[in-house]
Amino acid sequence: MALNKNRDAAVLYINHERHEVRGEEAFMMLADYLRYKRGLVGTKIVCAEGDCGACSVLKASYLNGRSEGFEVINACIISVAQLDACQIVTVEGLSEGGQLSAVQESVAACHASQCGYCTPGFVVAITACLESGKKDLNEQKIKNCLTGNLCRCTGYTSLIEAALKAQPSVQLSASLASRYLPDDRQKDLKAIAGIPLEISFGDKTFCAPVLLKDALQLRSKMPLTLMASGSDLGVMINKGKANPKTQLSLHLLPDLYKIDQDQNRLTFGARVTLTELRKICEKTVPEFAKFLNIFASPQIKNIGTLVGNVANASPIGDTVPFLMVADTLVHVASSRGTRNIPLTEFYLAYRKMSLEADEIIASVSFAIPKQEDRLRIFKVSQRKDLDISTVNSAFLFRMKDDHPSVVSEARIAYGGIGPVIRRFPAVETFLVGKALEPKVIDQALGMIQGDILPLSDVRGTSAYRRNLVDGMFRRFCEELGQKATHQGAEQHV
Ligand SMILES: Cc1cc2nc3c(=O)[nH]c(=O)nc-3n(C[C@H](O)[C@H](O)[C@H](O)COP(=O)(O)OP(=O)(O)OC[C@H]3O[C@@H](n4cnc5c(N)ncnc54)[C@H](O)[C@@H]3O)c2cc1C
Ligand code: FES
Ligand code: FES
Repeated sequence: MALNKNRDAAVLYINHERHEVRGEEAFMMLADYLRYKRGLVGTKIVCAEGDCGACSVLKASYLNGRSEGFEVINACIISVAQLDACQIVTVEGLSEGGQLSAVQESVAACHASQCGYCTPGFVVAITACLESGKKDLNEQKIKNCLTGNLCRCTGYTSLIEAALKAQPSVQLSASLASRYLPDDRQKDLKAIAGIPLEISFGDKTFCAPVLLKDALQLRSKMPLTLMASGSDLGVMINKGKANPKTQLSLHLLPDLYKIDQDQNRLTFGARVTLTELRKICEKTVPEFAKFLNIFASPQIKNIGTLVGNVANASPIGDTVPFLMVADTLVHVASSRGTRNIPLTEFYLAYRKMSLEADEIIASVSFAIPKQEDRLRIFKVSQRKDLDISTVNSAFLFRMKDDHPSVVSEARIAYGGIGPVIRRFPAVETFLVGKALEPKVIDQALGMIQGDILPLSDVRGTSAYRRNLVDGMFRRFCEELGQKATHQGAEQHV
């Protein structure tokens, strides 16, 4: 390949050992590599889809120049190559000198394990939660940390009790960062991240440039599969539905980790994770931040990116309805130059984007809703946590200053209603200047229903989806009538 070849091995630390991984092993999912190549069998594999958390491990890196400390991830859907320049800690790395960690002790003392298959994953996820420095941990916060972990026999009460009981001891113990990120290792990880990587095995190549211009040049020369964090692709590979031969990873491109904020807009580079997005939005767009609580699990949000969610072009992608009502621009780059595409014009057909073969999405930016905007985001799925939407939606309305019941601007976006997530400009125009009275709401919904073609599938029939479309808009209007502010996303199951 055209890269100045400098490294032919992914370099990562697993617990206290430094590994240079080449050839076939670099293309293995981390969980397989840990179990079958390193004998670290504490990491289990159950679903291999990111759904159960049995494969949870901890990851830290300096790739974004602002290390987030250790975060929990799923090792089953991310390849070793994708974890280049990272420090990984497995469940075996939590104990020290033969002494169980405080969380391990607590799980045993609270009898929080029966068959034990899920236990290492829970221990790792609880450790991440307690190490994250979250203040005032309570039962609900622990539950939020554990949405990515399933236990089929013990039940969660004793696991939550174990987490709460372990908290004081964890605070007194040496942090994972002090044990696993000494200065010399930090220096090494940072140095590794500055060297381009190209790994080949058979007909497969994994390529990670350190300069955006090199990435764009490669993209212009040959068909490549882009990997932001590769979480979606990891699932497809495990299911045998994808076998990308030439992978272009964005993980060594510092520009793509940038987050920019001015008074009006927020911009997120293509490697910014959903966890980072949620953190920034806590203050700037609290409704979106709250909504992201019910997006996937901590494990997925710690690797999955906003741009990956936009670029997988799913008709039920959960960030997209909000982005659609928030004047989002998709910032695209190629070796020919850059262009900005309004998200409302980005999806052309089912999974088809307005993106040329040589282009990549460099970042996505959206307008921060104003204080006076009424914003609500809804998601209905078959279960509350870690589930795919049946229908999702976002409504951003502004009301007249002198007549607060009259609409001055309306934006409506729905997902799960056809091949793409989209706005409803005719309905939005119809609503301007009108009070949201029952007759107007019925008329608006009549227009929306006449303009959608929801599918029937395992997540719901077309008729059910139409009911959800109805219910979400009526709920929003009811809240507006009650002068709801833009606080508090909610999920209905
Ligand atoms: C267990 C699980 C739960 C999930 N739950 C949810 C959920 O609740 N809601 C939801 O909406 N989604 C959910 N997802 C999907 C979620 O969208 C992704 O996991 C994540 O946002 C994708 O980010 P990524 O960085 O891993 O993307 P990747 O897997 O790297 O990429 C996704 C797609 O985008 C392309 N791509 C990546 N980067 C670029 C770029 N810069 N330019 C152009 N194309 C690019 C890739 O080639 C690929 O086709 C879930 C996934 C899993 C595995
Ligand atoms: S094995 Fe289930 S999430 Fe990885
Ligand atoms: S202890 Fe058996 S699945 Fe949790």
